[in-house]
Amino acid sequence: MRNSLDGQVVLVTGAARGMGAEHVRQLAGVGARVVATDVLDEEGRALTAGLGNDVIYQHHDVTVEADWIAAVAKAEARFGPVNHLVNNAGVVTFGSIESTDPAAFRRTIDINLTGCWLGMHYTVPSIRRAGGGSIVNISSTAGLQGYANLGSYVASKWGLRGLTKAAALELGPLGIRVNSIHPGPIRTPMIAGLDADSIVASQPIARVGEPEEVTAMLLYLLADATYSTGHEFIIDGGAVIGQVVRTLVDQD
Ligand SMILES: NC(=O)c1ccc[n+]([C@@H]2O[C@H](COP(=O)([O-])OP(=O)(O)OC[C@H]3O[C@@H](n4cnc5c(N)ncnc54)[C@H](O)[C@@H]3O)[C@@H](O)[C@H]2O)c1
Repeated sequence: MRNSLDGQVVLVTGAARGMGAEHVRQLAGVGARVVATDVLDEEGRALTAGLGNDVIYQHHDVTVEADWIAAVAKAEARFGPVNHLVNNAGVVTFGSIESTDPAAFRRTIDINLTGCWLGMHYTVPSIRRAGGGSIVNISSTAGLQGYANLGSYVASKWGLRGLTKAAALELGPLGIRVNSIHPGPIRTPMIAGLDADSIVASQPIARVGEPEEVTAMLLYLLADATYSTGHEFIIDGGAVIGQVVRTLVDQD
């Protein structure tokens, strides 16, 4: 049975660009009422300006508690209680354990992990007022395995994966499902400076993913995955199952 998103209130963080922007566009397309939030106000306003009256932009730094309170209040005032939260905002920080500035480590954890905890802390009362709903936390393949020179990002995304399970256990009895999405390399500004082709070369699906491939999973989790909670949903071209060794493949 499909649990339609038509008319449902969805709060999406980090929504001004990249995957978050695609989530907002497609949620609008299925009739959801969306509060798109970010710190990039110009891009956020430009995105929502073309999407009609049921999509609004709100300035919102996910590390700032007052911004969470304001975002949920704005959603409730405009649309009513929040049905679904998409904890999508995130940053990537490169550097070895020795070279990374401790402040950069803390900042990464603050945005990618604490920001999501704050999101659940401040949004769950609204979801309860809505009579239940769901939360999707955007983790990463870096929440499933390690990567050298990405220690702070890896720690934040593993933390988010664990937090998702604790939250699912707590909130399931309240009618709130909580799942995590684990994308591999997806074509967004976050990876624009990387040599993506070399990163994906040993994947069974040897290409960079597109934001809409993640959005499809998100919509499934929000609308249709009515018997799934606390789980990891992976969209990575098969990256974490192992590496295709081209010389072995070519011998066939
Ligand atoms: N692109 C990838 O390859 C990839 C892979 C796995 C996971 N992810 C995750 O997907 C999510 C979306 O990333 P993306 O690829 O679209 O990147 P992106 O950089 O295009 O978008 C991230 C958004 O988060 C916002 N943001 C950053 N700090 C914020 C803060 N303190 N408060 C509010 N918003 C803030 C940014 O302004 C930006 O709009 C992130 O959580 C990221 O870690 C991305």
